[in-house]
Amino acid sequence: MQRFMICGGNRLKGIIRVSGSKNSTLPILAATILNAGKNIIHGTPGLRDVSVMKDVLISLGARIIWGNQIIEVDTSQVYSSEISEYLTRRMRASNLVLGALLGRFGRVKISYPGGCQIGSRPMNLHLKGLRAMGADIYEKFGYITAEAKKLVGADIHLDLPSVGATENIMMAAVLAEGVTSIRNAAKEPEIVDLQNFLNKMGAGVKGAGTDTIKIEGVTPGDLGPAVHTVIPDRIEAGTHLVAAAITGGEVTVKNVIPEHLEPLLAKLREANVDVFTGDDWIRLTGAGRVRAVDIKTMPYPGFPSDMQPQMMALLSLAEGTSVVTETIFENRFKHVGELRRMGADIKVEGQSAIITGVPKISGAYVEASDLRAGAALVMAALAAEDGTVLENIEHIDRGYEQLETKYNALGARIIRVHD
Ligand code: EPU
Repeated sequence: MQRFMICGGNRLKGIIRVSGSKNSTLPILAATILNAGKNIIHGTPGLRDVSVMKDVLISLGARIIWGNQIIEVDTSQVYSSEISEYLTRRMRASNLVLGALLGRFGRVKISYPGGCQIGSRPMNLHLKGLRAMGADIYEKFGYITAEAKKLVGADIHLDLPSVGATENIMMAAVLAEGVTSIRNAAKEPEIVDLQNFLNKMGAGVKGAGTDTIKIEGVTPGDLGPAVHTVIPDRIEAGTHLVAAAITGGEVTVKNVIPEHLEPLLAKLREANVDVFTGDDWIRLTGAGRVRAVDIKTMPYPGFPSDMQPQMMALLSLAEGTSVVTETIFENRFKHVGELRRMGADIKVEGQSAIITGVPKISGAYVEASDLRAGAALVMAALAAEDGTVLENIEHIDRGYEQLETKYNALGARIIRVHD
């Protein structure tokens, strides 16, 4: 067990560089299975989740060298198409290998990932899409087995724009016979990044970033290894902006694609925070209390659910009352109880949280229940009047690379304590 001890009250000031996107790196690593070659992925963040995906690929027979933000993945010797329960329990996104394994081997067996701290997170849409392409799927003893002698392109309409289902179906469709259309597809920037990677390896994918993605199937001989740089992590960047705002600081976030953060920037501006953007940077200047704003999480380009907890920490200190409505996950308010321990005034009514801003919050002993809830508690602790002990920071390491080192360089006071 590890914890952060955070002394609040310092304004963050300076320049911070964002790492490559976690949620791009994970599906791109899974996609390397399709081409049975030596791929080189630049900009891969040193995160626990990426390390689990590395272990997943190694368990299948891949060879991996990882250092200096570069992962070399050789999938030529992949022989297995089974993922153990141990790995899916370590990371839900292990399920992203489903489509690629089915595409390459015509068979995959994976332990059902189950729910997690933020919701039940079923896989019905992933499986519906694969069934439509001709896969036989059995769910037994906690495992999903999918088999297909041949995958055939299909017209698939997703009930909701699931990121993971869109990615798994895209990957399965690369080697299917004919054209697959995914309608009501997820439009997140990470989907576009996956399309770019798949096309670099020889796939025929177009439309990512819009409602409809079309994949023209190719043969294994058409695919070769690819070299790719993952996009910057828009959620990491957004978290740093909130950290700057909540401490009344002045921070320039570098290595970002500002357009990917527009939904957040619009809300920060509405909250009366000064935000300036350049080609690959965003500067935020915070001063005094922010203004209350209402937020409703939506699929991209709506306000991201992954920024909801951090924004709630900021709005806890706003002038006025804000309403935050979570529409993506049914259980993503676990941070509320912990923020209340720090003096925030938040009431939850169904899928909405009503936040009455208070002038100050104080440090407390709190626990991170998941990655973004943990980030929200770091935000609150940075602004709190005195010290906070934040437990279970392993969750934070899943998605933020050396967060304490980055923030201490900006003037924060955070110590990591090991048991
Ligand atoms: N859903 C279904 N059926 C499905 C799939 C999804 O009902 O078959 C529901 C989910 O239960 C959820 C909603 O659809 O309520 C959205 O889920 P989605 O599939 O879009 O999410 P995901 O692919 O599991 C990715 C990110 C999450 C991020 C969500 C939403 C990765 C590895 N994870 O998850 O990231 O919150 O999209 O944007 O890309 C995080 O980084 O902290 C994180 C949780």
